[in-house]
Amino acid sequence: MTVTNLVKVASISAGTVLLAVAIPLLSKLPSTSLTSFIDEFPTQDYSFTAPLKLFRAKPPEDTPFICDVLHTYKTELVSVDPLIIYIHNLISPSEITSLLRTAEPLFAPSAVTKNGRQQKTSDRTSSSAGLPRNDPAVMCVLNRGRNFLGTMVRDGWDEMGPPQLVRYSTGQRFNVHHDWFDTSRWATDGTSRTWNRLASFFAILQDNCTGGETHFPYAKGIFPQSPWGETPWRGGLEEQIQRGKEEPKPLWREHENGGLAFRPVAGNAIFWINLHPNGTGDERTNHAGLPLLDGLKTAMNIWPRQYYRDS
Ligand SMILES: *[C@@H]1O[C@H](CO)[C@@H](O)[C@H](O)[C@H]1NC(C)=O
Ligand SMILES: *[C@@H]1O[C@H](CO)[C@@H](O)[C@H](O)[C@H]1NC(C)=O
Repeated sequence: MTVTNLVKVASISAGTVLLAVAIPLLSKLPSTSLTSFIDEFPTQDYSFTAPLKLFRAKPPEDTPFICDVLHTYKTELVSVDPLIIYIHNLISPSEITSLLRTAEPLFAPSAVTKNGRQQKTSDRTSSSAGLPRNDPAVMCVLNRGRNFLGTMVRDGWDEMGPPQLVRYSTGQRFNVHHDWFDTSRWATDGTSRTWNRLASFFAILQDNCTGGETHFPYAKGIFPQSPWGETPWRGGLEEQIQRGKEEPKPLWREHENGGLAFRPVAGNAIFWINLHPNGTGDERTNHAGLPLLDGLKTAMNIWPRQYYRDS
């Protein structure tokens, strides 16, 4: 991210300046990896504490957003090792509307950290927006993610990081990268701890595009996805005839260069675990945002943080 962009984002709300300036100092050691990754966004932010508390707080008067705590989604296992789970309907249409409304003025050209430096590169040509965790729709979705993670997240120790939206338009892409940091980051809460991105939720908010699949070159499926995507097979001759006329549209497919490629579908998400149990990054979760041939794709990155005692 350039200085101008940093200032632009920071000036949207006072109080972010300190955080923004501190960002380059956060990494413990310069990364030497050639694989790029997405850095944290300088944005106004609040800590995400116990989930129950969040729903006692009423959303601000000026927003009609109400979190549907009964929202349901469906999960489908894609790969066991590394763990990749496809989530149908993780984010509802009203949540998408609200998230986009918050994010719209915050979009700026995306940067990556490569060779230990934040930079804009031709590897990543999208735009990004950091979302504050105190936004009602953000809280709602983060809380859902936290519940999904179950016992992988220790309340009061780990946390849901602030989410980032990313937007691709025609021709834009993000070459192969990983979401974890090569070297864990220092905590900014004064405790002598470090953290890394345990897992990733990559949820699609806008899918009006052709192309723009998310490609995991090293992932292997257990079994091919239903060629008819969302619609499960019920059996029977009539259905077979009907489906014979339809163009198959699986949610993910085996990519011609190996690995799996996921089609963007609004509301749905891919979830995967970034770190090995010993805390090092799992290279098999490297992935790319394939170029958009046409249209617009907006997605939400949610990165739960696992914390470590500094040793
Ligand atoms: C961490 O675990 C992974 C997977 O088992 C292994 O490949 C890697 O060498 C380990 N790294 C360290 C530093 O122990
Ligand atoms: C979807 O994208 C096409 C082509 O870019 C555009 O013409 C159309 O207006 C878009 N539709 C919506 C609902 O955004």
